[in-house]
Amino acid sequence: MPMETVRLARQGEIAIATIDNPPVNALGQALRADLARVIAEAGADPTLSAIVLAAAGRAFIAGADISEFGKPPLAPYLPDVLDAIEACPKPLVAAIQGAALGGGLEVALACHGRVAAPTASLGLPEVRLGLIPGAGGTQRLPRLIGAAKAFPLMLSGEPVNAGKALELGLVDAVTGEDLIAAAVAQAHMLASRGAPLRLSEAGAKLTAADRAAFEALAADALKKSADLPNVAALIEAVRGAFELNFAEGLAVERALFLKLVADPRSAALRHVFFAEREIARVPGIGADVQPRPIAKAAVIGAGTMGGGIAMCFANVGIPVTLIEQEQAQIDNGMNRVAAIYEMSVTRGSLTPEKRDARMALITPAVGLAAAAEADIVIEAAFEEMGVKQQIFAALDGIAKPGAILASNTSYLDVPTIAAATRRPRDVLGMHFFSPANVMKLLEVVRPQGVAEDAVVTAMALGRRLGKVPVVVGNGFGFVGNRMLEARTRATERLLIAGALPHEVDAALTGFGFKMGPCAMADLAGNDIGWRSRKARGKTAAVADAICEAGWFGQKTGRGYFLYPEGARSGQRDPEVEALIARISEEQGLTRRSFSSDEILSRLLDPMVNEGARILEEGIAARPGDIDVIWLNGYNWPAWRGGPMYWADTVGLGAIVARLEQQAAETGDATLQPAPLLRRLADEGKGFADLKTRSA
Ligand code: 3HC
Repeated sequence: MPMETVRLARQGEIAIATIDNPPVNALGQALRADLARVIAEAGADPTLSAIVLAAAGRAFIAGADISEFGKPPLAPYLPDVLDAIEACPKPLVAAIQGAALGGGLEVALACHGRVAAPTASLGLPEVRLGLIPGAGGTQRLPRLIGAAKAFPLMLSGEPVNAGKALELGLVDAVTGEDLIAAAVAQAHMLASRGAPLRLSEAGAKLTAADRAAFEALAADALKKSADLPNVAALIEAVRGAFELNFAEGLAVERALFLKLVADPRSAALRHVFFAEREIARVPGIGADVQPRPIAKAAVIGAGTMGGGIAMCFANVGIPVTLIEQEQAQIDNGMNRVAAIYEMSVTRGSLTPEKRDARMALITPAVGLAAAAEADIVIEAAFEEMGVKQQIFAALDGIAKPGAILASNTSYLDVPTIAAATRRPRDVLGMHFFSPANVMKLLEVVRPQGVAEDAVVTAMALGRRLGKVPVVVGNGFGFVGNRMLEARTRATERLLIAGALPHEVDAALTGFGFKMGPCAMADLAGNDIGWRSRKARGKTAAVADAICEAGWFGQKTGRGYFLYPEGARSGQRDPEVEALIARISEEQGLTRRSFSSDEILSRLLDPMVNEGARILEEGIAARPGDIDVIWLNGYNWPAWRGGPMYWADTVGLGAIVARLEQQAAETGDATLQPAPLLRRLADEGKGFADLKTRSA
């Protein structure tokens, strides 16, 4: 007998239907069927006068079951179940605690009353999956609160808390007391009033003024995201609330929803949803391993990176000591932090009180001794092994027992750093991305021999800091930068073979990146890569020549592009183009033109190849981890799912063939397909077939 996902109990004349479908009460087929059955039974029971719909666990209902999307729909369909709930002759009151998202909020909207606990979080996040609400949300929510308020909720997908929900009229009451008792009281009240009020029959909020306000918001939304199919669909569906009757509006919404579910962009976003959850499961580390408590932190190095990391702690209320070697350096670092907070205050995204509270959490200090009290020390000093080893050796004598010692290195060997201490089990990498207070990605570098609870602590801390932490193995550039380097080398090859910087960048922005590799290098500063290459005895003809000319990028007014005063983006530079042509000639190459598609595959295929090697070496546990890294650290467009997901959509056979052709053309052995890539292609498989759910 399958478990029932809805339990029915009674309190006098009131039925309490409790949804219990762990972990988050997603509306899978079994729950939909049980819900329809239980509501029909309670609705027909003459001894009952009303029904409270409650839920067990941490969420009310997390929405439709996302894992069912992309498969043939299974009856009963959610819109039909919700129609039946709304049509129930007895009033239904939703008792909402935790998340009521997507289909979960739509269930609550089909009820006739809504009471929320302070923990409630309500929203229609379908847009983040490339969808629109598909179970009446676009029709019922405008009827409840007006389209001008409903549309922004659906457009942003951002949930609101209980207080805001009450203010918007999404719920009738918020109670800090017994939620079920409050819902039962409301159910009694509604029952005494007679026939329940159904949103499908309400129209008072859909006024001409509301329509005008909605249309203005819609026009603005279209301008900002014209290329996303769900924005236009959302507008069309909401417009239906004004122009069509409820049933017709619902039918339009359903048709648009089903079309979007079938769109590859939504499939990619669904992949991202699950990959972002999978990263929490670290292979080989059981769910029972507990993180060490973190109450105080220290950050060593008050440069841009260290200051940004200190801000991450302060932003979530963790006291942090920011350490430098000299007073002048720490003064500079603190001034930089203060200036960033000040900018947020000026922009209105931070109140002066919060700024003061955050600044008060950052204690400036000179000398490593100030790290003695910290539960975690993050070193963000100069990227040189000698410097790091010296710091870690000193920390070994200073940090308290059990403190986590983390390096923010982006390339260096973490075990070599750990070897400077007598506690390598407590040493790992925590690689933040610049600007550290903004970028979501955190690579948690797990060297062999590090304690499991140290890794778990870094992951838990990362989440607490609002980051997306991904465990990676130790190895040059870890995952993100190693693949970025493959793309940088590809850019160099393309430029020498005949493409121009603006063409390379246009191919990537056309794909959906915010910036191409040349503009990105100009923004970051070309000298950074140049210095790193020199330190490793590597060369890159074009990039080196540009740096030798002193064209370091935006900060010097020119790099791959020209940045005249006041220009909002780089402009083509004839001198750079001539310089590139000269290098092609010196290398005996006849320049040829490249189509945008060809540029794209030449940039991305080598990244995929490097990703395959990273998987072979166990530096990343799963293809999805690599995707999450590229989405959160390098602005890979989310609706393209990440590099490994993208490779599967192209077909690994095609990528292998293109890499082989390029390898033969250029004689570059790094372009030879990785054995894993070749094997999967030979077997007609994709990276998704490697996916294993880990412990
Ligand atoms: N469908 C299927 N699985 C879901 C799910 C959903 N809607 N929501 C969460 N899960 C799964 C997760 O994959 C995870 O599984 P795992 O343990 O095997 O990795 C588990 O539930 C727990 O999820 P989280 O780790 O995210 O738990 P949190 O407590 O951190 O967060 C949450 C809970 C806020 C509800 C968050 O899971 C969330 O935002 N869920 C998705 C909400 C959403 O997008 N809903 C809209 C769906 S589309 C829809 O409803 C269409 C409708 O209009 C027809």
